[in-house]
Amino acid sequence: MTQINSNYQKLQAGYLFPEIGRRVRAFQQENPQADMIRLGIGDVVLPLAPAIVSAMKSAVDEMGTLEGFHGYGPEQGYDFLIQAIIENDYISRGIELKNTEVFVSDGSKCDSGNIQEIFDIQNKIAVTDPVYPVYVDTNVMAGRTGSYLKSGHYQGITYLAANQHNRFCPEPPQEKLDIVYLCSPNNPTGATMTREALKKWVDYAKQNECIILFDAAYEAFISDPDLPHSIYEIEGAKEVAIEFRSFSKTAGFTGIRCAYTVVPEALKGKNSSGEPTSINALWSRRHSTKFNGVSYPVQKAALACYSLEGKKQISQNIQYYMDNAKTIRDGLTEIGIEVFGGDNAPYIWLKTPQETKSWNFFDQLLQQTHIVGTPGSGFGPSGEGYFRLSAFGLKEKVHEAIERIQQKLKI
Ligand code: MLT
Repeated sequence: MTQINSNYQKLQAGYLFPEIGRRVRAFQQENPQADMIRLGIGDVVLPLAPAIVSAMKSAVDEMGTLEGFHGYGPEQGYDFLIQAIIENDYISRGIELKNTEVFVSDGSKCDSGNIQEIFDIQNKIAVTDPVYPVYVDTNVMAGRTGSYLKSGHYQGITYLAANQHNRFCPEPPQEKLDIVYLCSPNNPTGATMTREALKKWVDYAKQNECIILFDAAYEAFISDPDLPHSIYEIEGAKEVAIEFRSFSKTAGFTGIRCAYTVVPEALKGKNSSGEPTSINALWSRRHSTKFNGVSYPVQKAALACYSLEGKKQISQNIQYYMDNAKTIRDGLTEIGIEVFGGDNAPYIWLKTPQETKSWNFFDQLLQQTHIVGTPGSGFGPSGEGYFRLSAFGLKEKVHEAIERIQQKLKI
């Protein structure tokens, strides 16, 4: 019989969100009348902005003509989209990028999961704890870790505890690391890294010749003008960081799929002879071998996010979700629940009442209020005793969820 990749045997149960789905389905089977409110997985609910719909429709119409038909596109993305990304997301913040440094893709989950392939298996990696599970699981699958320990950690990964003491933003450690995953605004804690905090990491990476994988998928939710949106706002970051961005939450593309990854040409790793090697060239090689590009209508739809009306419509949707975040924050605070995040991020990270274990709180919330959230411990052992609520819901449902929590949750 064919031997499987035994690294998969180290993985814990299912991926977090399918596991939540399984538990919710079981609950619904037993309680078919329950009116569920889902604030678990961070999936958008508002319809696409009209400017995006119209751009996508015309691109589809173009594809139905001989002159406008597009077959395989450039794997890295069409220049029209790459240029709009550079002008709007980077030049506007004083960052220069070349077209060849931006790689359009079908998602930040895929990119942040796939990127580890271009790095040697011996590299020492670090993640914050709690963490977006994709960073950890993809390294487990690749064989970069040992087994799963009782502590809830994998052997061979450095976990940097994110807790109330460090405002959920761990500082660089003493030890020398090769790859560090950072995410700001953070999934799951909703914490945001200040310029100073990010600079410490960039300096650390320079001193230790380490690469930072910076996930900025939620940058559009930042409203504080002092907070950085891109790691490249920090001087020297192009020599040490890769950045992931996505249209998923920014523009409601979770079902359409479009994202991009920036790999600066200044970023270098070393090859087996110790010579400096371009990471950009490696990612380009990987991308063009394993990926055929995002479809033309989807890239046209993404382009529409940068039109005047597109920008306006998208920011209204973002404001809608951030109003929900405020409703959740205020409503929980009123009943004495301690909350974090939710001010520059669409996630609210709450401390469970009476130090209830995260999964117990998940069951309690589901049974008493029929609300689905995400247990903090599902993101790592330091998430134990915390719980994540997503602001991606319909306003009326979010209000109702808060009312139910205030009236029905026994705390
Ligand atoms: C989440 O809820 O953490 C996100 O929706 C997951 C994702 O973006 O893949």
